[in-house]
Amino acid sequence: MEQYVSVTPQEAMQARDGTIKLHGAEGFDGMRKAGRLAAEILDALVPHVVPGVSTEELDDIVRAMTMRGGAVPATLGYRGYTHSCCISINHVICHGIPSDKKLKDGDIVNIDVTPQLGGWHGDTSRMFLVGDVPVKAKRLVDVTYECLMLGIEAAKPGNRVGDIGYAIQTHAEKHRYGVVRDFCGHGLGQLFHDAPEIVHVGRPGTGPELRPGMIFTIEPMINIGKAAGKVLDDGWTAVTRDRSLSAQFEHSIGITDDGCEIFTKSPKGFDQPPY
Ligand code: MF3
Ligand code: CO
Ligand code: CO
Repeated sequence: MEQYVSVTPQEAMQARDGTIKLHGAEGFDGMRKAGRLAAEILDALVPHVVPGVSTEELDDIVRAMTMRGGAVPATLGYRGYTHSCCISINHVICHGIPSDKKLKDGDIVNIDVTPQLGGWHGDTSRMFLVGDVPVKAKRLVDVTYECLMLGIEAAKPGNRVGDIGYAIQTHAEKHRYGVVRDFCGHGLGQLFHDAPEIVHVGRPGTGPELRPGMIFTIEPMINIGKAAGKVLDDGWTAVTRDRSLSAQFEHSIGITDDGCEIFTKSPKGFDQPPY
């Protein structure tokens, strides 16, 4: 059985030990600020995500904006990672490393940012369409966004983590897409990755109960082909085994008395492409 503990902002720094932290008003306030900055960074990237831009140039913009917002990129120095965001193109599932590689017409791209502001982590990612994208790829992107929002609808007291996974899996599989199992959503707050794991597949009524004060991400990764992935020799880049296209969206949310609050909604309404 899961253990739940109500935490003050100080106690929210406690190392991960499997316990599920329940945050109070101050935690929600800190997450609101960090989440807003994260969403503003993605909003600001929109005019820059065009054919010919390198992913390193986009990473530079993310770092500059993060620091201008009084935050630090949580990925910088995280487990040896040396960039300010992850940029995952086409068949890359997640954790694509910014490089001199340039975006090209027709690419679908995920950019995942995590500013740490006042100790709190705003973790969010969106898909960007580069130039003219084939209908099949656009459909994957749309369905993946719908998966995220259906998962969020299931995130409320009385439900369990398995209800979130079930909502996502059912919708993705209706479209014959594969739901990635190798990576999942996660608790967060003053820690970048905390309990519980939010798996994007599941059965209704299973898993940890959702209680007010829980803060976590939902970040489904959906493949046009099979669910299986592998990590490249660089130790980070996760790709689909069958090289099929993969898409992902991520929001950071907090469970409230009657549902949840999304901390990372786009102030500009750029939550789902086209932007
Ligand atoms: N932002 C990712 C997440 O959603 C984690 C990236 S860790 C990194 O959890 F080191 F790869 F950047
Ligand atoms: Co995350
Ligand atoms: Co993320």
